[in-house]
Amino acid sequence: MAELPAIKRRLIEQGVDLIDVGAGDADFPPPEVAVKALTRALQDPAMSRYAFQLGLPAFREAAAAYMQRRFGVSVDPFKELHPLLGSKEGIAHLATAVLNPGDVAIVPVPGYAVYHGGTVLADAEPYLYNLTPRNDFLLELDGIPADVLKRAKLVYLNYPNNPTAAVAPREYLERVIAACRTHDLVLAYDNPYCEITFDGYVAPSIFEIPGAMDVAVEFHSLSKSFCMAGWRLGWAVGRADRIAALARVKNYVDTGAFLAVQAAGAEVMKQAERIASGYAAQFKERRDAILPALRANGFEVEPPRATLYVWIPLPDGLASAAFQKRALEDVGVVTLPGSAFGAGAEGFFRIALTVPIPRLIEATERLGKVLATV
Ligand SMILES: Cc1ncc(COP(=O)(O)O)c(C=O)c1O
Repeated sequence: MAELPAIKRRLIEQGVDLIDVGAGDADFPPPEVAVKALTRALQDPAMSRYAFQLGLPAFREAAAAYMQRRFGVSVDPFKELHPLLGSKEGIAHLATAVLNPGDVAIVPVPGYAVYHGGTVLADAEPYLYNLTPRNDFLLELDGIPADVLKRAKLVYLNYPNNPTAAVAPREYLERVIAACRTHDLVLAYDNPYCEITFDGYVAPSIFEIPGAMDVAVEFHSLSKSFCMAGWRLGWAVGRADRIAALARVKNYVDTGAFLAVQAAGAEVMKQAERIASGYAAQFKERRDAILPALRANGFEVEPPRATLYVWIPLPDGLASAAFQKRALEDVGVVTLPGSAFGAGAEGFFRIALTVPIPRLIEATERLGKVLATV
């Protein structure tokens, strides 16, 4: 994945009509209110100063007000919520805050690479748990050996899920919270896709589950639901002592997200539900257009109820990296192979709904040609 930007550049220079449905980074413009607020904030010299860990109080307050409005979760914006330079940064640093060398972190595969990376950078040991269609892509703590659970300090969960698009039933989340309490585990609940949901499904915050505040730190992001990936803004929510530990680590490595971006984020969060539902409707149109096209081209897919991803099984024995390479080099389509999300994710590839419908259909037809000749 790290090499992809350079390969893409080379192919474009060679004149290839590339369709990039790899990264989860949609082409929709950012919210108008964000652009206006940023433009305004840039005129204020105070916005060019260090944010420090406090950041812009108005952003903290707007994010906390959204948590209350949207999930019924009441948090202190200054003690139980912390601004992040995108949620990736916070997820990586939570591992440093929670794990000591030799501790175990439970990492879902497939999963966002930072769970594994943050664990390794903290000198801790990842325990890889395979999410498969057989377990509805749910990580069941009961299925983990007792000696691993004894050494484990942290577990990562992400629903709605990247890349499988799976969602977590409430009873499942209740089971997870109970198990985290029993085994004294911190739950890193990664929730950047909570507003990209379809067909009446509404994704919860983990803090809607009783007892979650004892164990969980939840991560939110403006990248996906609000199409502001490059702005680098998100936040973490959790018990005051865990948020303080995260802030302490961050204090050594960053000096806060650009204040003008936080000012824009505050305006977005004030209207979050309206803005996000507009984007979700557009992702749904893309999802509804690509599913029949995928089926017509030989791919078997279930309709995702959330996220901007379609997670597609490959025929038995076809290596996902080989399929991705052919897709890229023979027909100019960038996808992500299951193997990029860990060996346990072999047998699938991911398409992101990040380009307009005609390009999605074109990509699907090109991929169908590859499938027909492998
Ligand atoms: C599951 C998941 N978590 C977190 C992130 C990070 O988002 P950001 O750092 O842009 O907020 C991503 C981005 O792809 C993701 O897929």
